Amino acid sequence: MTGACLAELGHDVVVRDIDPAKVEALHSGEVPIYEPGLGDMIARNKERLRFTLDLGEALAETEVAYVCVDTPPSASGDADLSKAWSVVRSLVGAAHLRAVVMKSTVPVGTGARARATTRTLSETSSPIAAAMSCTFIALPAPASSTSIRSRATSHASEPADPDPP
Ligand SMILES: NC(=O)c1ccc[n+]([C@@H]2O[C@H](COP(=O)([O-])OP(=O)(O)OC[C@H]3O[C@@H](n4cnc5c(N)ncnc54)[C@H](O)[C@@H]3O)[C@@H](O)[C@H]2O)c1
Repeated sequence: MTGACLAELGHDVVVRDIDPAKVEALHSGEVPIYEPGLGDMIARNKERLRFTLDLGEALAETEVAYVCVDTPPSASGDADLSKAWSVVRSLVGAAHLRAVVMKSTVPVGTGARARATTRTLSETSSPIAAAMSCTFIALPAPASSTSIRSRATSHASEPADPDPP
């Protein structure tokens, strides 16, 4: 969904997944989730949207990486972020990477850790920014969809962390 929306906005997008059945389905024009209008959106943006299992292909030209993996509850009830951090670690050495956006649902405090991690990634490249794509944001009522969009944008870049790890 994220990849299709970014392609709709005019970006060239490579969607990478580790599930061969999902990537195969997407190659054949099938949409593996129910989301009204998504199939049409993928079809009309097919020039800008690729699907792959291959990490190298996904990272070859990538300037902005969105982390969209699932973060299920662990045995303790906390979100299991292991898949998200595994994706972030896999970005080491991506030559053109300039920003990592955490789209997965994560607990408070993950932004600080993401910034610390991207600082480490930046040691071998140009500076890489970290951003959070917030799912739920507090809104004053009444809220129009326009104000939701503008707030989502303003939350995309967090202020400097006063207490980094
Ligand atoms: N920020 C937002 O606005 C927003 C909106 C919707 C969902 N979410 C969050 O996004 C996350 C994903 O949601 P979903 O419904 O798409 O989950 P999902 O389980 O349907 O999809 C996750 C995908 O990640 C793939 N994956 C797992 N490990 C991977 C890896 N190392 N590399 C590449 N792909 C990998 C899986 O194969 C799966 O296809 C969840 O944390 C959800 O809460 C955030």
